[in-house]
Amino acid sequence: MQLLDGKAISSQIKSEIKIEVENWIAAGGKKPHLAAILVGQDGASETYVASKIRSCEEIGFTSTLVKFEADITEEKLLEAVASLNNDADVDGFIVQLPLPKHISENTVMEAVDPKKDVDGFHPINVGRMCKGLPAYISATPFGILEMLIRAGIETSGKHCVVIGRSQIVGLPMSILMQRNEYPGNCTVTITHSKTKNLKEVCQTADILIVALGRPEFVTADYIKEGAVVIDVGISRVADATKKSGFAIKGDVNFADVAPKSSFITPVPGGVGLMTICGLLTNTLKAARKEIY
Ligand code: GUN
Repeated sequence: MQLLDGKAISSQIKSEIKIEVENWIAAGGKKPHLAAILVGQDGASETYVASKIRSCEEIGFTSTLVKFEADITEEKLLEAVASLNNDADVDGFIVQLPLPKHISENTVMEAVDPKKDVDGFHPINVGRMCKGLPAYISATPFGILEMLIRAGIETSGKHCVVIGRSQIVGLPMSILMQRNEYPGNCTVTITHSKTKNLKEVCQTADILIVALGRPEFVTADYIKEGAVVIDVGISRVADATKKSGFAIKGDVNFADVAPKSSFITPVPGGVGLMTICGLLTNTLKAARKEIY
């Protein structure tokens, strides 16, 4: 079993981006500028956004955090989106999800200028990705692809099973894994809450990507000997022994599954750390106008 170490890979990618930024600035380019909109006081979202902003500082980007109370109206939020769309200094921005129930996430995502949509959530970017056109690939799928590439994992002709059909992970991942390029060329099965015989389907996976949000759901009996296991789950589970009062758990029971797998991502320290690299890579692309 080999660990797909998100900590090591993400810090390597960040140092590569830092050098790219230095070269870009030395050649007369402007510092890439990422902005983030955060609505409300969700603990996990606050942590993610703080870590995105911190990473920007580390690698030489400018960053801006725009915060709103949870009761902001959709109209006001759309005004903030329009203002970032029109701010020539901002290369890319994100609106952290989830949003409060009274705001339509789809409406907000569609309001973001696709050229600044470094999360890759706008239908134009999703559509371009599906057609194999240059597009911003969203952060988590980017992180997973990069782990596969850097570990040199063969994907062509393999059976890739994705658990979960979310817009953010499951759906784009299934599209990317069947593309006619590396890493891709897989036969892909996408599974979800209505899938019959989920365990049996998973047992046929050469590559299993788990993104359903149920802590330690996947156990060794789901796994074919030698499978590559990618755990996208990040759940907070109450744990009185921790200072924070919770422990972070993945969707895979690591201790149970690891001995059967060829490669596996830990949680924490796996895919989660890689997602920021996707966002930073997209922001650099936006600053250099590589996609649009
Ligand atoms: N919430 C969970 N993951 C993400 C992400 O990648 N981007 C945004 N904007 N919100 C999220």
